[in-house]
Amino acid sequence: MARILITSAIPYINGIKHLGNLVGSQLPADLFARYCRARGHEVMFICATDEHGTPAELAAAKAGVPVEEFCTDMHKVQSDIAAGFRLSFDHFGRSSSQRNHRLTQHFAGALDRAGLIAEVSEKQVFSIDDNRFLPDRYITGTCPNCGYTSARGDQCENCTKQLDPTDLINPRSSISGSTNLEVRETKHLYLKQRALRERLQAWIDSKTDWPILTTSIAKKWLNDGDGLQDRGITRDLYWGVPVRKGDQPWPGMEGKVFYVWFDAPIEYIACTAEWADAHGLPDTAWQRWWRTDKGADDVTYYQFMGKDNVPFHTLSFPATIMGSGEPWKLVDYIKSFNYLNYDGGQFSTSQGRGIFMDQALQVLPPDYWRWWLLSHAPESSDAEFTWENFQASVNKDLADVLGNLVSRVTKFATSKFGDTIPAGGTPGPREAQLITDLTTQLRAYEANMAAMEVRKSAADLRAIWVAGNEYLQAAAPWTVVKTNPDQAAAMIRLAMNLIRLYAIISRPFIPDAAAAMMQAVGSDDWTWPESLESALTFLPAGHPFSVPENLFRKITDEERADWQARFAGIRT
Ligand code: 2FM
Ligand code: ZN
Repeated sequence: MARILITSAIPYINGIKHLGNLVGSQLPADLFARYCRARGHEVMFICATDEHGTPAELAAAKAGVPVEEFCTDMHKVQSDIAAGFRLSFDHFGRSSSQRNHRLTQHFAGALDRAGLIAEVSEKQVFSIDDNRFLPDRYITGTCPNCGYTSARGDQCENCTKQLDPTDLINPRSSISGSTNLEVRETKHLYLKQRALRERLQAWIDSKTDWPILTTSIAKKWLNDGDGLQDRGITRDLYWGVPVRKGDQPWPGMEGKVFYVWFDAPIEYIACTAEWADAHGLPDTAWQRWWRTDKGADDVTYYQFMGKDNVPFHTLSFPATIMGSGEPWKLVDYIKSFNYLNYDGGQFSTSQGRGIFMDQALQVLPPDYWRWWLLSHAPESSDAEFTWENFQASVNKDLADVLGNLVSRVTKFATSKFGDTIPAGGTPGPREAQLITDLTTQLRAYEANMAAMEVRKSAADLRAIWVAGNEYLQAAAPWTVVKTNPDQAAAMIRLAMNLIRLYAIISRPFIPDAAAAMMQAVGSDDWTWPESLESALTFLPAGHPFSVPENLFRKITDEERADWQARFAGIRT
């Protein structure tokens, strides 16, 4: 049994995530966590809300509630939706927790002791009416290059020129619209990442088994242009982790907070401590996952994230960990994803375009979405959600192939043999061939699941379902029963065991349907099938079963058209 630590990128608190966000981190991480548990490994699966930063402050202001209250409410909303998608986190924490405050301050102190923090004075735009410093992207004005009147302080989205806020003509605050701005001097802490460049480079170079998407992004940031830059890790904001050196004040840093991207990944660790607290466990319980001096040297640590998060996880967070000089666990494998597009365009949170997690669950149960998203995961390139493709996949894979097999077998068995698995007959060459085929297919599925090849795993699983259907089609117990009821009974015994096998191996993808299948065959033994011979004779003659509710229904053309229209517009 291995010990496996899994973290999903932690979603921002400001708003409900769309399906593109879901398939880029939380859902594949859940698939992997469920698979590792099913194989008997000890798993710690961690996620949280990413609560700090200006967007959270602004979303709270827009909602007219204090930011603390906004975050508490939204954490509950996101946590409920995660449960709705059956995301099986061991803990869904909060980056605003006291645990994260203390740990972030601890890391800053350790980095400072290691000589890796510099204090830098810089000039920044202060909005007198808003009584705050403005991050670059919250300053709007006219682009000096093209004359576009709504250019942002960091970049003009019209001509793409990178800007400094002081380049803008007629600058104003994007928060209040005020033009009462001035440039003020302010002091910030910088993490001297450049000092760690060689260690980071050697570390990345040693990761020869990582997905190319992950290493290519990491290498680009290490080697392009000026290479790795030192990075500001503090901000002049109210909402965040107050800047301290461990438990000591940091002179000159009063009233400032750490940058959200400094404290967010530290929350992976803090969240595990929150898990221990929630279960009344001592610190050793979370430290054995994270401290190599306290038992974590035999942990394998996997991170899941969208490609935009890769630089922070391959460079900045490792710089924090390495730079601390303390024995914290570094990630062993980073699985990253491309983007999922929506019906000819992009999913967009700011424009409300696409399907959001809460809306998805209002129209269909989680397994339908889980199956489509995972079987179309944007791994080797961007992928696209279209309603036609969604309808076709659900109707074919889930309803026609899997659902139909379960319903056909159980209904036929009840009508011919009553409510227990029938006795009689013996398996023949066709059954032996099925076992041989399924064994090969199952071993391929296991290899792809272990390698986090999400799409390939889905294709393998679908092939295993198809093989069962083809067997039944060819064996035709409904015909055989007329002339040789014993032989038909042997086929049905095998088919009942096939349903249980499907429940076990499909559970990481479609946990609710798996539970319904397992219940239908009257078992609760989820032991992973090592040998198909034993797995397919596990339920004996005389074992009770029942006909489940329809596992999956088909999506009609009317529904598809209706949803397409409903989700075409802009969510308000
Ligand atoms: O992109 C995002 O949604 C970020 N909130 C991810 C943070 S992951 C981490 F570092 F914690
Ligand atoms: Zn411009």
